[in-house]
Amino acid sequence: MRTQVGIVGAGPAGLLLAHLLDRAGVDCVVLESRSREYCEERQRAGLLEQGTVDLLNDLGVGARLAREGLVHHGLALRFEGVSHRIPLSELTGGKSVVIYGQTEVVKDLIAARLAAGRDFRFEAEAVALEGLDTATPAIRFREHGREQTLTCDFVAGCDGFHGICRPAIPEAKLTIYDRDYPFGWIGILSDSPPVSDELIYVNHDRGFALFTMRTPHVSRLYLQCEADEDIANWPDERIWDELRRRLGDAPELPQGAVTQKNVTPMRSFVAAPMRHGALFLAGDAAHIVPPTGVKGLNLAAADVRVLARALIAFYAERSPRLLDRYSDVCLKRVWKAQRFSWWMTSMLHRFDNHTPFERRMQLAELDYITGSRAGMTTLAENYVGLPFEDL
Ligand code: APR
Ligand code: PHB
Repeated sequence: MRTQVGIVGAGPAGLLLAHLLDRAGVDCVVLESRSREYCEERQRAGLLEQGTVDLLNDLGVGARLAREGLVHHGLALRFEGVSHRIPLSELTGGKSVVIYGQTEVVKDLIAARLAAGRDFRFEAEAVALEGLDTATPAIRFREHGREQTLTCDFVAGCDGFHGICRPAIPEAKLTIYDRDYPFGWIGILSDSPPVSDELIYVNHDRGFALFTMRTPHVSRLYLQCEADEDIANWPDERIWDELRRRLGDAPELPQGAVTQKNVTPMRSFVAAPMRHGALFLAGDAAHIVPPTGVKGLNLAAADVRVLARALIAFYAERSPRLLDRYSDVCLKRVWKAQRFSWWMTSMLHRFDNHTPFERRMQLAELDYITGSRAGMTTLAENYVGLPFEDL
């Protein structure tokens, strides 16, 4: 088997890249270890920056998003029992964000690629990368119990944090930057309307809480918990009780049937550079952000936007000029998104080791950010997504 670009992983990064390359006539094959159903059911965050929405529209897969996505022009930060609205659009020259689950983005991208009849293999697990230093790298993969080889010009490592692509880079060639946080998030999906039309981020003495949504009838709710929390300790009633306490006496929290429950670890992680020879890492394979800044999916989209342009230019001009800049261009955005995600996480969570002084600093920061136009703008412009720096 042979293709121009072998893509490992059918998360948002791999799927978006495949669409961008298809459109430009660059041949690619997507290998995904899981089943289609698994990929379409996985619950992840669900907030898209304007730039990500534009990219989906541009690819012709934005129709359902336009119908069902919930456009948000503001959000609330709540601390010491009071909500403060950040008018995102007013502060950013009219930009907004859209609530549309990552699972829905993935469903739309899979359906469009299958409808176009492109080579797309589920339950095809990449097991090894070969010849990354040569002009004919290859992906060994297992499908239907049989091992096969896909020879390509380039490999796109879009296989997420636990994939095989990043570990295929010699350790000495990569620098890892990471930070674990001493807490995680419990997330639930509930068949109940959101408590507010806009997201509410809560800083509370008992810990962080986030009130978000998927549709006007389905809420997505998060609670700060222990890093190694056992979900078995959290029957639904305990979760609702804790959500109500952290929300305080705002409007009453509508309660519904809990249809999904999980624990997410919180981590900041960057592997640099994002390229080794013929291998290009994109999305979670190269970086992880804590979800407080909702940058995960949006960063993956930004990476593959750059990668697609560089690959397309390579085939058009036979020049590696843009490919050589891929890692540097992506990392500039990645580091700014890391800073924002770390800052939001630090400002909004309860840290058990904080002294009373540090706790006062957190509250003073929230008071400043919500009380000053400059403060609100710094949050807003990062939240809606910084401008793209083109290649
Ligand atoms: N062979 C083939 N596929 C693999 C392999 C492998 N060896 N290892 C992992 N995969 C697949 C996973 O099953 C998954 O479907 O790669 C895909 C990676 O997708 P994601 O984890 O979703 O990563 P990415 O596409 O970078 O998405 C960015 O945004 O909201 C955040 O973390 C969230 O997933 C999200 C991310
Ligand atoms: C979500 O809707 O899942 C969501 C929204 C905002 C975040 C994290 C998750 O910061």
